[in-house]
Amino acid sequence: MFISRLEHFASVDSTQGVVREWLADGTPPVCIAFADEQTAGRGRLDRQWVAPRGAALLVSAGFVPENLALRHGWRLGAVVAMAMLDAAEDVAGLRDEALGLKWPNDIVADGPDGRLVKVAGVLGETVAEGDSVATAVIGIGINADWTAADFPPELATSMSSLRELSGGRPIDPEVLLEAWLARLEPRVEALGSGLFDAASWSTHQRTTGRWVDIELGDALISGLAVGIEPESGALLVEVDGVQRAIDSGEVTRCRVIDDVGRRGRPA
Ligand code: BTN
Repeated sequence: MFISRLEHFASVDSTQGVVREWLADGTPPVCIAFADEQTAGRGRLDRQWVAPRGAALLVSAGFVPENLALRHGWRLGAVVAMAMLDAAEDVAGLRDEALGLKWPNDIVADGPDGRLVKVAGVLGETVAEGDSVATAVIGIGINADWTAADFPPELATSMSSLRELSGGRPIDPEVLLEAWLARLEPRVEALGSGLFDAASWSTHQRTTGRWVDIELGDALISGLAVGIEPESGALLVEVDGVQRAIDSGEVTRCRVIDDVGRRGRPA
């Protein structure tokens, strides 16, 4: 059985912490916690993750991989995102490829003015043992039934939800959860056998072909994203004719310069 434990919380501080504790208590994988609301939801880089009650699917999955090299640990986040992308297109009745990824694993769609708008984010927290991933908690928050009228004003132009993208179709987070789990299982099993669909992850990357500003601590790298490196998951960025591979673990911010923002950028 793929799922060992699945619990729904009306309100919780963070589903990440719940699953982390379950794993520490010896709960076998894959264990799943999801919530209608989080009071201390966490995003990447110590940011907050906020969504009104019932507007988003907020879910964390706990893994104890038997055979996942540390250098491939990023693949768990990728399969969580890809399974959700497929599920979301299906449940929201969106055309194929309506959704894509902003490297590494944000789920995005095309916004009204050519900008990418964020629909979901993935937070991966892994514990290493030697060269392997011992445990991992991968969380994803996806804006499901959130109406644009309720988007925070400061984020309204850079975010969207499945409800908005589908033209107002109500999206039940629990239906989305079921659809995601069905798509997650074969991907996680494949990963256990060393198989990862790097081609699909790569073709879904909307970052490729766009200008990016990447912060690595205090350093800023500006260049053209030209693809991803399938072994390491790194983003390949061309800077002054030289290709650099950027590891997602080093990045403190990756900003895509959309058509709107690209105007004025030196050739
Ligand atoms: C990001 O910064 O884009 C990642 C956001 C991840 C949010 C999800 S919601 C479920 C899980 N619980 C959390 O506290 N965070 C993740």
